[in-house]
Amino acid sequence: MTEHVIVTDEDATRIIRLRRPEKKNALTQDMYLTMSEAIDSAQNNPAIRCMIITGGSGVFTSGNDVDDLLRASQGLGSRPLNAVKFLYSLVHNKKPIIAAVDGVAVGIGATMVFHCDYVLASTTATFSTPFIHLGLVPEGASSLLVPMAMGHQRAFSMLVMGRAISAEDAKIAGFVNAVVAPGHTEVEARKVALDICALPVEAVTLSRRLLKQPPDELVHRIEQESHMFGERMESPEAIAAFKSFLARKKKK
Ligand code: COA
Repeated sequence: MTEHVIVTDEDATRIIRLRRPEKKNALTQDMYLTMSEAIDSAQNNPAIRCMIITGGSGVFTSGNDVDDLLRASQGLGSRPLNAVKFLYSLVHNKKPIIAAVDGVAVGIGATMVFHCDYVLASTTATFSTPFIHLGLVPEGASSLLVPMAMGHQRAFSMLVMGRAISAEDAKIAGFVNAVVAPGHTEVEARKVALDICALPVEAVTLSRRLLKQPPDELVHRIEQESHMFGERMESPEAIAAFKSFLARKKKK
């Protein structure tokens, strides 16, 4: 458990709120674990029909905590195994998930939305996967899901060139449903959740399953990516990039 993730059930919706604003909601191992458990425990709970993941106003998440990545790459901390556990929870999840993205969604913060079923973004939201700038490779089955969602060329720009995508461009690319005013993503997500919760629950589950990639394929891709990501974390390119980000912080 961590105070950086708040999980509440409101009516039939489970809301997972990231609350580490001083670090732009950078994700720690404890945060991944709490998010994973919130998703897993909803599976056999008939009272929960839908979930929302939100970062609150102004930021979704800046992705994996870079301090943790550096410590793990130098053998000083554990590998980000809970990140993989969280991704598997998303893959095996059977209930609709809405992402409410207000501000930056970086790294796994961007790739997790490709596992969600409905995405609301504020006009100031951006989606970026700066893996390349960190000497890393894509994760979270994004190397499979992103090209499927928006074609190879746009996926290349995002995943291989590390270029950010604005909320409007994300809507045009097809992975954002609606763009709303800053500060309004969560309230809009709750309206969508009410709509989903009012639908026939079994038919929603079955229909959603028909739309999704088979879990085995996603798990296989996550395994391939994780293997390469783990190797890359220990590369001189990645260690230099982690140190450079953290040094930038100290200079301020
Ligand atoms: N891991 C650890 N700390 C992070 C972080 C991360 N992913 N993202 C932000 N922080 C910290 C900053 O170091 C800073 O800490 P400090 O106040 O102790 O100096 C604080 O959060 C605020 O971040 P800051 O960079 O000042 O905010 P910003 O609005 O100028 O920029 C980002 C926001 C998200 C664009 C920028 O912080 C960033 O690029 N973060 C790294 C993203 C990343 O590479 N994630 C990993 C992907 S695999």
